[in-house]
Amino acid sequence: MQTSAPCASSGAPEPSPLTPFTSGIEATLAKNARMVAEQVAASLPDAETLLASLPPGAREGSPDTYTRHLVHADPFERFSVMLLVWRPGQFSPVHGHRTWCAYRVLRGTMYERHYRWDPESRTASQVGAVTREAGDTFSVPAGLQHIHALGNASDDVTVSLHIYGVEQSRISTGVNLLVDTVVS
Ligand SMILES: [Fe+2]
Repeated sequence: MQTSAPCASSGAPEPSPLTPFTSGIEATLAKNARMVAEQVAASLPDAETLLASLPPGAREGSPDTYTRHLVHADPFERFSVMLLVWRPGQFSPVHGHRTWCAYRVLRGTMYERHYRWDPESRTASQVGAVTREAGDTFSVPAGLQHIHALGNASDDVTVSLHIYGVEQSRISTGVNLLVDTVVS
């Protein structure tokens, strides 16, 4: 089989003396997010204990949009833990992340769409989707290499726990990196 060298118009970045260094940083950041998820899987209390920390009535969510409830704010402002309640048909916007995050499905099922980022057009196109079940735990590194949308495509309420590497006052503006989207 013949192969050809990448051409300049392929969009691939030019080789740089910094490439080994930056590649190592990328791998380290991805590893950090995975380590958070491993810790979540290893030490998180059971789902019923966590669901009991929701305010009265919050388990059933809101008819307007998915709801978020802060359950832990690190006193040194390194991370925040939220419970999200999704009624059927409620979805997040398509987004990358300004910080690492990890999440676990506590109740019901979560539908997650994945997107690929095109730096030239600055748009994201859908490349796949998966269904996460209660007990599943995943992590997402910061940046536009990992873009997704989460939501509830089932007929029952879904509850998920999310950990973000920001302090609580920055959750609304410091987590999601919204992107223009081309859905394929
Ligand atoms: Fe996300």
